[in-house]
Amino acid sequence: MLTLGIETSCDETGVALYHATDGLLADVLFSQVDIHAKYGGVVPELASRDHIRKLVPLCRDVLTQAGKSLADLDGVAYTAGPGLLGALLVGASFARSLAWGLDIPAVGVHHMEAHLLAPLMEKDSGTVGPPLPFIALLVSGGHTQLVEVNGIGDYRLLGESLDDAAGEAFDKAAKMLDLGYPGGPLLARCAENGDPTRFRFPRPMTDRPGLDFSFSGLKTFTLNTVRDLSPLTDKDRADIARAFEDAVIDTLAIKCLRAVKETGVPHLVLAGGVSANRRLRERLSAELPGTTYYAKPELCTDNGAMIAYAGCLRLQAGHREPLAIVVRARWPITELSPP
Ligand code: KG4
Ligand code: ZN
Repeated sequence: MLTLGIETSCDETGVALYHATDGLLADVLFSQVDIHAKYGGVVPELASRDHIRKLVPLCRDVLTQAGKSLADLDGVAYTAGPGLLGALLVGASFARSLAWGLDIPAVGVHHMEAHLLAPLMEKDSGTVGPPLPFIALLVSGGHTQLVEVNGIGDYRLLGESLDDAAGEAFDKAAKMLDLGYPGGPLLARCAENGDPTRFRFPRPMTDRPGLDFSFSGLKTFTLNTVRDLSPLTDKDRADIARAFEDAVIDTLAIKCLRAVKETGVPHLVLAGGVSANRRLRERLSAELPGTTYYAKPELCTDNGAMIAYAGCLRLQAGHREPLAIVVRARWPITELSPP
């Protein structure tokens, strides 16, 4: 089963080819960072237009890299949500039409399910993956969720952010520190030189029971610290970045540990863009009683490979999309069902 995967939910055009037995054959990504950087965030209309420009050349690239042709494809997977509606529609229309033209099945993939399954992709290429059930911490630009995973499409939501997502908080804090866009990786780099003892930022909602998160108070605390110290020196920036990163990582780790204790499920899969954060990975690996699994950094942030992989699993299980092209800006992961 050779699956073409297409990701266009936000500001990366990702296209990949995944083969059910041979694994990932090709994976290309075009990041629109330079297009959106001057606006300090993603401009949805510009994102849609650029996905249109890039899809055909990127599809040609993956086929060439893998030495395959369109006739070799057995299915096409595309991100059907959640994400920016216009951007999703570009990928979905292209993918659904291509599948129709080739007379092969199509499957609309849930973006967060694809993130969640990405760390399992490497299991298929030799390393041992997480046994079911496992707990997943999904941390991206739009989501912060703890989910109990009992199988593909069998998800129980344990907790989620009541306001900002962890990645969004990273991006906003980076903006306050004038570190640039997208902020998460830049803030993490800046924090490397920070003094962890200078400031102590709050760990929101860790002093009460439950598995929900809140990051907007931490954002306000960061803003107030920046205002008190302005104009900032490079040292101030690094120390604030370190205090911020420590607070987010601590908060996530406390909730993960609590989820593992409450469910009795020891293993954790860490997924989504923020799971590329080195100190978060190290902290969870050191602290949790079971094994912590995560994908390699380029498969943590948005990419076509995770869509091709999740789509391939669903196609193999018999999932087929009707001809109608349906995308969803909002789509709770708990609404999914096993294929
Ligand atoms: O999964 P993703 O690529 O896109 C969404 O589905 O949202 O996640 C992007 C988020 C951004 O907020 C970005 O700042 C954050 O992941 N991110 C990081 C790191 N790398 C990416 N946050 C903290 N540390 C990182 N190293
Ligand atoms: Zn994502």
